Amino acid sequence: MNRRKLALVTGGNRGIGRELVHQLLLKEFQVVLTCRNIKDGEAVVEALDGPVDQLTALIMDVSDDESVMLASKSFGERFDRLDVLVNNAGILLDEAESILTVSEDILNQTWNTNSLGALRVTRAFLPYLKNSDDPRVINVSSLAGQLKDMGSWAPAYSISKTALNAVTCLLSNDLAQFNIKVNSVSPGWIKTDMGGPTAPGTLEEGTDTIVWLAEEAPAELTGSFLRDREPADW
Ligand SMILES: NC(=O)c1ccc[n+]([C@@H]2O[C@H](COP(=O)([O-])OP(=O)(O)OC[C@H]3O[C@@H](n4cnc5c(N)ncnc54)[C@H](OP(=O)(O)O)[C@@H]3O)[C@@H](O)[C@H]2O)c1
Repeated sequence: MNRRKLALVTGGNRGIGRELVHQLLLKEFQVVLTCRNIKDGEAVVEALDGPVDQLTALIMDVSDDESVMLASKSFGERFDRLDVLVNNAGILLDEAESILTVSEDILNQTWNTNSLGALRVTRAFLPYLKNSDDPRVINVSSLAGQLKDMGSWAPAYSISKTALNAVTCLLSNDLAQFNIKVNSVSPGWIKTDMGGPTAPGTLEEGTDTIVWLAEEAPAELTGSFLRDREPADW
């Protein structure tokens, strides 16, 4: 029997998600990487060094109910439990927009992926999380969603991350009865396709708190928003 902890990372084919997949494999997790395009996921399985026999790629578009349901079903054909769910998949479509002009279409797309996507995936994989001895849900959020210092940048993205933080609070309350810990994490400003080439943070820095949560962070932190392994303001 495989006694490695099992983690699932959404949007695991590039950026922070891909690095998470790599780090978790090196920490002796078994990992399921989910992606919109299976070729992208398979390319990661081929390219990564480390124990890739412990890595599986699964297709899942987090913005689509049917795709999430199908992914949960095919996951269940191979696995009966999930220890760590990382809701990492995200989009940023409105860097140059203002709250006064951003279209409803962009608001809806962004909310549907960044906030509802995480809730949808958590609900769909809940039966497997309930079978774990030490289950966790980690929502990759952003300081852009912090109400304390909310500015004007990327309104749809910012609203979606504030809503994701609310999803974290609500889930942490309702999932405590199953011992499922739920957190939001800000990875920092990280050099990826989304973060851009001038971002100061490395992929290792962006994944540190998430890997720590997956591996060893205290259970009492459930319900909090974390940055650099410390609680951050909402
Ligand atoms: N980079 C930063 O500075 C930064 C800062 C704060 C927070 N974050 C957060 O960190 C997370 C990862 O960001 P990143 O910088 O790694 O971004 P990225 O390089 O743009 O990668 C985004 C990932 O999300 C996937 N994705 C997007 N929409 C999806 C959908 N509907 N279903 C499934 N997967 C989807 C993408 O898949 P495709 O390849 O198919 O597009 C890709 O794998 C995001 O939640 C982001 O908001 C990033």
